[in-house]
Amino acid sequence: MSDLTTITDSFRRCLANHAFYGTFFQRLTRRLPQVGKYFEGADEAMLHAFLRKAITTSLMEAAGSPAAADLLARIQHRHGPVEMDIPPHYFSEWLEALIETVRACDPMLDAHTEETWRTVMGRAVALVTPTSGLPLQRLAP
Ligand code: HEM
Repeated sequence: MSDLTTITDSFRRCLANHAFYGTFFQRLTRRLPQVGKYFEGADEAMLHAFLRKAITTSLMEAAGSPAAADLLARIQHRHGPVEMDIPPHYFSEWLEALIETVRACDPMLDAHTEETWRTVMGRAVALVTPTSGLPLQRLAP
């Protein structure tokens, strides 16, 4: 099974759990108590859409989509010092909150699937982290 299929299947199982998005923002806030100020004015539906778009764009980039790669570059700028100015260390906490959430929500998660999430989303997180400056790399589809 390809990495993308592994994650897509796991993501589908996560979404069958209605607590998925709420769990992510709970875990993120537990790790970063100040994070709420960046989301002021966003309602629950918007928060869910941000996370959904973060994951789907990352998966599309990993599958080789140039449009998704462009979007991640724009997101890096949007989150960086010129616009929202999110501290760079927040991004590794975002990834850990996501992994904890997948652990809590995918009833069939195994070590390989968790590692695949970490690899694919870890690269996307590095791409949007303001100071990383990593070159784009693609996974084999
Ligand atoms: C703790 C770290 C992060 C914080 C505090 C944060 C915060 C935000 C905020 C406040 C928005 C709303 C932006 C707006 O109003 O235009 C947003 C949007 C978004 N973020 Fe993040 N973000 C974080 C990490 C990430 C990561 C790691 C990714 C990708 C892997 C990501 C992808 C996105 C996407 C796709 C949107 C939606 C952009 C749009 O539709 O215009 N974010 N984020």
